[in-house]
Amino acid sequence: MQSVHFDPELLDILRSARHVAAFTGAGVSAESGIPTFRDAQTGLWAKYRAEDLATPEAFRRDPATVWNWYAWRRELMREVKPNPGHLAIAALERLVPRVTVITQNVDGLHARAGSTEVIELHGNIWHNLCVDCRTPAPEEALGDGAPPACPHCGGHIRPGVVWFGESLPAAAWTRAAEVLETADVFFCIGTSSLVEPAASLPRHARSCGRTVIQVNPEATGHDEIAQYILRGKSGEVLPALLKAAWPHVG
Ligand code: OAD
Repeated sequence: MQSVHFDPELLDILRSARHVAAFTGAGVSAESGIPTFRDAQTGLWAKYRAEDLATPEAFRRDPATVWNWYAWRRELMREVKPNPGHLAIAALERLVPRVTVITQNVDGLHARAGSTEVIELHGNIWHNLCVDCRTPAPEEALGDGAPPACPHCGGHIRPGVVWFGESLPAAAWTRAAEVLETADVFFCIGTSSLVEPAASLPRHARSCGRTVIQVNPEATGHDEIAQYILRGKSGEVLPALLKAAWPHVG
């Protein structure tokens, strides 16, 4: 395997960090086998229209199609495992006093990898709830219907994800803003950084004086604000980076 060289200054910054934020997107789960949204050919939005599947209007118009699409994605996510990128982010918790994951992903893989402080900006695909009375619907109560009815009010059960046109969960957004106040290092991993307001976080982190590190095999609009750009797959770059910064840790 080719050896990877990282800027020694970056390794020092990591070793002396007190609080690391890892802002992640679909790319961090790509090596687990979950398609991203915008990669050409393989991205979900290359095959499906977001307007038909990821908006409140689409769900009102055609709840069964939307529900079935999320049920399909849930099944896909159930089958997969965290990859070395998720595991490296979780392992950072043993090396740095505090690590916060701020993710746009709804797959729950950061928690499954062992990350303990995870802020889910776009919700979680396993947390279903009633579209009308907002009562959570545990998975075992879902039945086979498409979509099932709420046992309390009869409303449709929907996936607990954020759709286009909806606000981010207020508590998650407030927590993410607080993290920018204290994190000294801000990783931006596997996201095209195109969807606001989440995409504003790297810019905000930079303007707060944080060290911004971009991890992505492709260029993105946020490259210009990053002090360090690590071009490659997160499942390869992140384990190599940890190994370079802490060579004696197994
Ligand atoms: P995108 O699909 O827009 O971007 C995925 C990014 O991951 C791209 O920049 C890829 O180059 C990069 N990538 C691909 N493979 C990678 C790998 N192995 N390691 C690291 N990076 C890799 O996904 P997001 O930026 O997460 O929202 O999209 C943001 C939001 O748009 C999603 O949360 C979703 C979507 O529409 C909603 O559904 C509301």
